[in-house]
Amino acid sequence: MVVRVWVVRDGRAVAETAEEWLSPRERAQAAEWAVDDRRETFMVSRALQRALGARHLGVSVERVGISRACAHCPDPGHGKPHFADAPELDYSVSHTRGLIVLAASTGTRVGVDVESGSREIEPAGMTRLLASEPELRALSSTATALEPQALFRLWARKEAVVKLTGHGILQVPFTALSVDGPTARLDSPPPGWPEEPVHVTDLPLGDGVFAALATTCADPEVTVTELRRVADLAL
Ligand SMILES: CC(C)(COP(=O)(O)OP(=O)(O)OC[C@H]1O[C@@H](n2cnc3c(N)ncnc32)[C@H](O)[C@@H]1OP(=O)(O)O)[C@@H](O)C(=O)NCCC(=O)NCCS
Repeated sequence: MVVRVWVVRDGRAVAETAEEWLSPRERAQAAEWAVDDRRETFMVSRALQRALGARHLGVSVERVGISRACAHCPDPGHGKPHFADAPELDYSVSHTRGLIVLAASTGTRVGVDVESGSREIEPAGMTRLLASEPELRALSSTATALEPQALFRLWARKEAVVKLTGHGILQVPFTALSVDGPTARLDSPPPGWPEEPVHVTDLPLGDGVFAALATTCADPEVTVTELRRVADLAL
């Protein structure tokens, strides 16, 4: 099963190619960001999603409808984004520090997450927030704090899983979710958790970047394409 992954390394450099892909509402939302790099990331992320929908559906970007309704509660805005007219195409987006990653497939559900390893973290506190008992046992028999590299890796893998399902970080305590193996294990899955195993793989996107892809199919064939312009996104 193929999963396509597109990577924008520098949201700032790509932002000016994004505006024409945005809806009028997104343009207005973009203008509200007070911080330049946050605005640019928002624009590129939303533009990539619209470009994906337009390419897949074969329609102009104005006709791409993206729903953010939650599959797990009545909230209209905090769900996993999806194309109203293309339920067969599952996709997921993640961004950190100007790096934007989009993953999509018609053959498997997907969740993607990317974390910058240059973020300042406090390893002991992060370990308490993030690591499950089985992960602590597997990764360290003695330490109360895991190494930053191990923490960033777990973090990306866990977020990828809860983004695949759409539950997000509030519905699934990370200390109850184990992702140190090839499939995710969760103590008490919430309603709407997939029946099938959720597979997790690291995405090698370069030094200092921790990225993970969750899928409902095992061993996906992953293609990674770097983009310099939004319009270059092709299926
Ligand atoms: C989903 C979530 C983990 C993303 O975290 P984040 O720090 O914003 O991280 P990322 O940069 O990796 O991801 C951002 C992208 O996640 C996507 N996203 C938002 N909500 C999502 C959800 N519920 N499921 C999957 N993806 C989601 C969006 O595409 C967003 O990018 P965009 O706004 O540019 O479109 C976090 O926002 C979250 O947990 N939200 C709560 C969802 C919730 O309340 N669920 C309750 C279910 S009842």
